[in-house]
Amino acid sequence: MESIIGLEDVHFLYPDGTPALKGITLRIPHQGKTALLGPNGAGKTTLLLHLNGIYRPTRGAVYFEGSHIRHSRSEINLLRRQIGIVFQDPELQLLGGTVYQDLSFGPANLNLNNDLIHKRVKKALELSNLIHLADRPVHSLSYGQKKRVAIAGVLAMEPRVIALDEPTASLDPCAAVELMELMDSLNAQGTTVIISTHDVDLAVAWAKQLVIMEDGRIQLTGTAEQIYKQKLEAHRLNLNVPFVVEVYWHLIETGLATGIEKMPRNRKELLNLIHKPGQTEHLSKAKGI
Ligand SMILES: Nc1ncnc2c1ncn2[C@@H]1O[C@H](COP(=O)(O)OP(=O)(O)OP(=O)(O)O)[C@@H](O)[C@H]1O
Ligand SMILES: [Mg+2]
Repeated sequence: MESIIGLEDVHFLYPDGTPALKGITLRIPHQGKTALLGPNGAGKTTLLLHLNGIYRPTRGAVYFEGSHIRHSRSEINLLRRQIGIVFQDPELQLLGGTVYQDLSFGPANLNLNNDLIHKRVKKALELSNLIHLADRPVHSLSYGQKKRVAIAGVLAMEPRVIALDEPTASLDPCAAVELMELMDSLNAQGTTVIISTHDVDLAVAWAKQLVIMEDGRIQLTGTAEQIYKQKLEAHRLNLNVPFVVEVYWHLIETGLATGIEKMPRNRKELLNLIHKPGQTEHLSKAKGI
């Protein structure tokens, strides 16, 4: 598995002495879909802010395409063009003016000509379904709308890696689905996507790699199947369990599934598992029909 970003024994202390990362070693797969999970204070945001040089490790190293990030100004400028971070709080990200103006600041900083800036902004507005808000002042938008503008602002930079801190937390269900579909289509075109989330159902349905953090450390990494295949182990580690996995375990325990099927990662796969032809026989027997 080729990685685009690597962290090697990264430790980070905040200026007040709080240890937020305590030895993180992690590979972010190139063109992958990675989700960071973990309770409040686990270190997810702190880790994301190391990816494009906003924070510098107190100890350890971060690598981009194999090169050690050394935090010179030119290196950081280059890095930020390639790795876009969407903060949890859009207020920290938005610069002001109208939505259109806000989105053009980033590309203008790349010294693109006006025509190219316009093309980038238009594309980001279209991808994010924000055309109708283009002329609104950003300060007048709802929180969820601001979040979508902040995401569009990162899209307008056309980065190779997009890291989003709790991207769906303040979005309505429809906007959340649209956002993850948009991330999937960018991913299919080669963008590496990383999210942090508390939504374990979303993480399991969406990510190819899960990274479970706790108290500044990585507790576990792997695919959803690797992490949730063993119920006892998941319970021992006190993992938050997605709904589809709970039902899957239940189907196995009640004999309605054999356990050799692929673990479902979303509702559709779960329903397919229940409805697949071989299963009807089991179901009939179990129901005594
Ligand atoms: N500016 C700061 N100064 C001091 N300590 C901080 C600061 N920001 C975060 N921390 C501490 O660093 C640790 C990791 O915090 P972080 O925000 O990375 O966690 P998180 O996993 O993103 O949590 P959440 O799910 O609540 O967003 C916590 O102990 C937190 O209290
Ligand atoms: Mg956080």
